[in-house]
Amino acid sequence: MPEELSALAPAKINLTLEVGASRSDGYHELASVLQTLALADEVTLRPASTPSMEVAGPFAAGTPVDGTNLARRAVDALAGALGREPEPFHIRIVKHIPPAGGLGGGASDAATVLRLLARHWPDAREEALAAAAAAVGSDEPFLLAGGTALVEGRGERVTPLPDLPQHGVVLFIPPDTLPNKTATLFAALDRDGQVDEPAVSRSLAGRLPVQVTGADLYNSFERVAFDCFPGLAELWERLEARTGEAIRLAGAGPTLFWIGPGEAVERVTTAAEGLECAVIPTMTAGSLWRR
Ligand code: C5P
Repeated sequence: MPEELSALAPAKINLTLEVGASRSDGYHELASVLQTLALADEVTLRPASTPSMEVAGPFAAGTPVDGTNLARRAVDALAGALGREPEPFHIRIVKHIPPAGGLGGGASDAATVLRLLARHWPDAREEALAAAAAAVGSDEPFLLAGGTALVEGRGERVTPLPDLPQHGVVLFIPPDTLPNKTATLFAALDRDGQVDEPAVSRSLAGRLPVQVTGADLYNSFERVAFDCFPGLAELWERLEARTGEAIRLAGAGPTLFWIGPGEAVERVTTAAEGLECAVIPTMTAGSLWRR
């Protein structure tokens, strides 16, 4: 292995997210068209005498550096899938993606560690990477390749789609998220009782590549997010009133986003000035990795 290996770990948004029935294993059937963004963490891996980790950057606060971090679990998952002894690595992550916001930052860091390990372990081929990714979490299989894809099952069935033409995206990050957020939001959907069919996701997947706006998109979690995150409904209403555009929830939230033509990014970013959220202008990005 060279002294160190580095790669970008992009954020994702769900253009569509339809949550179906809950399953006997505790997960839910999903259908989602996922899209990676230019906003990305930086992940570096180097051999070390014991497993260790450091986190820096604007969104480092609160990220665990112990064995619970998904990036560290990814090393063990891939070693396990290959029947190797886990090798000790030092993992450094520069966090540009707000954590626990629905943008897949932790999952993308883990998927990126897997791709870096694949450069180091020649026996780590696609099947083992996919198995390790699914063992770490539900967004990780998509984030191994990124770009635009239809994701089904628990998250492990990934069908690559033609790249979405480049769109501008503006992310609005509320100050607070929830502990155990994703499981809490799925439980709220169970109480709500509606089971979504994968119609919107499959229809969008079949029409790509097309220009989209927020009005074309769908997210089951929008039915319950505004009850789960205090203050989110008010922020969402203000953003829609000020921008005159449809604003959507990112994944299980609480990040909200606008998507549309790149020329409008500045106007949408300015419209959010003074509201109680961090505002991050970015754009869609195709698959970063060709191995
Ligand atoms: O797999 P991951 O760790 O990303 O999921 C976090 C939680 O979200 C799970 O423990 C589960 O409660 C819920 N989940 C679900 N169905 C999915 C994916 C996640 O119920 N397809």
